[in-house]
Amino acid sequence: MTRQASLGITAFGAVIALCLLNVIRPCSASITVWYQEGQAPLHGTSTGTALSANYTGSAAYNPNTLDAPPPPGPAGLPTQFALQLSNTVPPGASIAQSGSFFGFSVEMSVVNQVCKSLLQVPFLNLMANIQQRAGRVVVRVGGNTQETAVLVDSTPDGRILEKDLSRISNPTQTPPLIFTPELLWMLRNISSLVNVRWHLGIPFNDTSNFRLGIAEQGQQILGDYLIGLQVGNEPDLYAAHGHRPMSYGPYDYFGEFGDLVEAMAGDEHVSNRGLLIGPNVNTGDWTPEMVWNTGFVDSYSSNLAYLAVEHYPTDNCFAQYGVGTPRDPQTIFPDFLNHTAGQMIIAPYLNSTAYAQTKGKPLLMFETNTASCGGFVGISDSFGAALWGLDYAMQMAYSNFSGALFHVGGQNVYYNPFTPPSTNQSTFRKWTIGPIYYSALVMAEAIGPSNNTQVIDLAANNNNVFSPAYAIYESGNLMRVLLFNYVTDSSGASNLSIDLTLSGGQNPRQVQVKYLQAPSVSQKGNFTWGGQTFGANFESDGRLSGTEDIQTVSCSVNGSGSTVCTISVPAPAAALVFLSSSALTETAGSESHTFPTTAETRTHNTVTVDPSLLATSNGHTGMGKRLGSTSVGSANAAETGALTRSSVGAMLAGALVGSMLVVGGTW
Ligand SMILES: *[C@@H]1O[C@H](CO)[C@@H](O)[C@H](O)[C@H]1NC(C)=O
Ligand SMILES: *[C@@H]1O[C@H](CO)[C@@H](O)[C@H](O)[C@H]1NC(C)=O
Ligand SMILES: *[C@@H]1O[C@H](CO)[C@@H](O)[C@H](O)[C@H]1NC(C)=O
Ligand SMILES: *[C@@H]1O[C@H](CO)[C@@H](O)[C@H](O)[C@H]1NC(C)=O
Ligand SMILES: *[C@@H]1O[C@H](CO)[C@@H](O)[C@H](O)[C@H]1NC(C)=O
Ligand SMILES: *[C@@H]1O[C@H](CO)[C@@H](O)[C@H](O)[C@H]1NC(C)=O
Ligand SMILES: *[C@@H]1O[C@H](CO)[C@@H](O)[C@H](O)[C@H]1NC(C)=O
Ligand SMILES: *[C@@H]1O[C@H](CO)[C@@H](O)[C@H](O)[C@H]1NC(C)=O
Ligand SMILES: *[C@@H]1O[C@H](CO)[C@@H](O)[C@H](O)[C@H]1NC(C)=O
Ligand SMILES: *[C@@H]1O[C@H](CO)[C@@H](O)[C@H](O)[C@H]1NC(C)=O
Ligand SMILES: *[C@@H]1O[C@H](CO)[C@@H](O)[C@H](O)[C@H]1NC(C)=O
Repeated sequence: MTRQASLGITAFGAVIALCLLNVIRPCSASITVWYQEGQAPLHGTSTGTALSANYTGSAAYNPNTLDAPPPPGPAGLPTQFALQLSNTVPPGASIAQSGSFFGFSVEMSVVNQVCKSLLQVPFLNLMANIQQRAGRVVVRVGGNTQETAVLVDSTPDGRILEKDLSRISNPTQTPPLIFTPELLWMLRNISSLVNVRWHLGIPFNDTSNFRLGIAEQGQQILGDYLIGLQVGNEPDLYAAHGHRPMSYGPYDYFGEFGDLVEAMAGDEHVSNRGLLIGPNVNTGDWTPEMVWNTGFVDSYSSNLAYLAVEHYPTDNCFAQYGVGTPRDPQTIFPDFLNHTAGQMIIAPYLNSTAYAQTKGKPLLMFETNTASCGGFVGISDSFGAALWGLDYAMQMAYSNFSGALFHVGGQNVYYNPFTPPSTNQSTFRKWTIGPIYYSALVMAEAIGPSNNTQVIDLAANNNNVFSPAYAIYESGNLMRVLLFNYVTDSSGASNLSIDLTLSGGQNPRQVQVKYLQAPSVSQKGNFTWGGQTFGANFESDGRLSGTEDIQTVSCSVNGSGSTVCTISVPAPAAALVFLSSSALTETAGSESHTFPTTAETRTHNTVTVDPSLLATSNGHTGMGKRLGSTSVGSANAAETGALTRSSVGAMLAGALVGSMLVVGGTW
């Protein structure tokens, strides 16, 4: 293990050095790959701040906090303003969006670490929370390790995924992954319980000898739950990473993509040839336009399900690996705490979202988060990141992206939406839920399940960067408004008081408000959404706990007959305003549904988990509908139960440790 880990460090040093030859670009996500698997290599040394020098545990649980930036004062943040809202969709609103916009990206090499835990109740609950609000959850399993992965019938030690260390010929090489169809079965089994839709990646390291097994078996096993197949992960970095000759350019990618299309056409086991995703550039040496200008989209239109890019706004490579530009988290914290942050990330893609529309293709942000190389202590794991992630994702929706996948790493990164305990802790520790998961949850509730939601950035408060706001329309009607206050100020002087002025058919006598809240942007854990929380480190079973708190605000009719509802937004917080009771019930109804589960562990004790574990959070709808009957292709209750039990059997037989879910009984 140690040898493997230190080998990883060497490999990474080299990869990062290569990566940094392209100075202007933050290191790509590739850099995080190695470190996400081990528990150990760089703990405590990896943050780059004096603060954390004494902390020796995993990054994911690092307790060190930063100072919140000081309030900008009344000149920087006028605290009273009005938002005029009409019931009809204004010009400039987004394309139709779906509630599953905000999804997750799991590096393939890490899926082992995370996946040991995937069939655990907490993971399923986390996915179910989003499904209840949005109807489905999108998860991508892939990344750089997909490129050299090999689907095999079985592995020497019976695991479903492992690194083929015998095939590393030099220290800078990532060992290829080998995985068995059981990995795909595991994903399928998850989708039988919760409506998770998957993106996978086709290995692209050898384009004269494609390995199409993941496409063949992925389609066979996952059926409609497989929604996309990525072709080439960050091909604009291939040359810099030594995976292609230095001359490799957009036309070479175009040609290789064509080779793949041809190979798939000749493969009778590939049933759906229209699931491909490209070009997945990380805004390196290639702009997306350079790929569009090859005629890529027209040439492969019938094969392309999605267009995609990947991007991190900055990187923490120096602190993690000693290469690149040193960045002090305290100094750059304010860069994440205003409306410009998301807008700046998206600006280079606005032409591409417009272009994608002209071609009738959805454009995805396929992998993103606060910073590559693991994120920043105190930023990526703070309440500020929850506001940042929510605003950034809403800004992407407004800007006509069609989805965004936030990256999930191992215990050595700061930005995880959720982190399972390491397997030897899984009998006494629970999961840790990070800020980005709260962003995902609120976004799902803001957009809702209709698939017909349009959002617009209201340029609120004279476009003040600390108080952005979005209006949310469903099927043409104004349903919800999302308000932000990025400022931390315990004095109350920076609380916002916002007059929502409604005209044109919307005359509610009262509206309801849910807050995403913490005392400071620098706080870690214990954030609340509608008064409920996933707690601090190691405290969550994937369900919100506490009593749901939905505020009711009365509205008045002003002299000109407009309805005015005054919403207070504390500093800091986000507030989701539901303009009608149906706007609330559709994503947050009162029905509560539970079904029985027990969890067994490999260790001596058989733990029986609270039978309502895979439950809804307090009072949300959807589980009944989905789990009872309507999951596409899912078996009936008896079959599903049996399937899950045998899946656990298989995993236990594979000598995996940790809690495994057994769903028993009926629901
Ligand atoms: C870290 O340890 C040093 C030496 O024991 C001590 O002086 C310092 O105050 C500690 N720093 C923190 C942040 O606890
Ligand atoms: C591609 O990856 C496979 C599996 O890891 C490996 O066997 C093969 O040699 C690689 N081919 C190239 C051209 O790198
Ligand atoms: C937008 O993208 C299209 C397609 O690549 C390109 O032709 C056009 O020049 C781009 N426009 C701008 C302003 O970059
Ligand atoms: C807002 O964020 C942007 C982008 O990160 C940053 O450049 C800018 O300095 C920030 N503005 C303030 C007032 O903090
Ligand atoms: C999003 O697409 C809509 C419909 O085409 C368009 O009106 C709007 O301007 C676009 N928004 C952005 C930010 O490009
Ligand atoms: C878990 O395993 C790690 C690595 O082997 C070890 O350092 C740690 O002490 C173990 N923790 C417990 C609680 O057994
Ligand atoms: C939303 O779109 C998904 C994917 O196409 C579909 O499965 C689902 O039924 C749609 N939901 C509604 C309410 O139309
Ligand atoms: C500001 O908001 C906080 C949090 O809701 C609240 O406790 C406080 O009373 C408010 N202060 C003022 C002056 O409105
Ligand atoms: C989070 O809440 C728990 C339980 O109430 C408490 O023990 C812990 O100190 C809190 N942590 C923070 C950072 O507020
Ligand atoms: C009522 O609200 C509308 C919309 O904000 C505004 O234009 C009008 O001046 C208000 N009338 C009064 C009497 O406050
Ligand atoms: C998933 O379900 C299939 C079909 O019942 C079963 O054969 C398999 O062992 C399960 N695999 C995993 C990894 O859960």
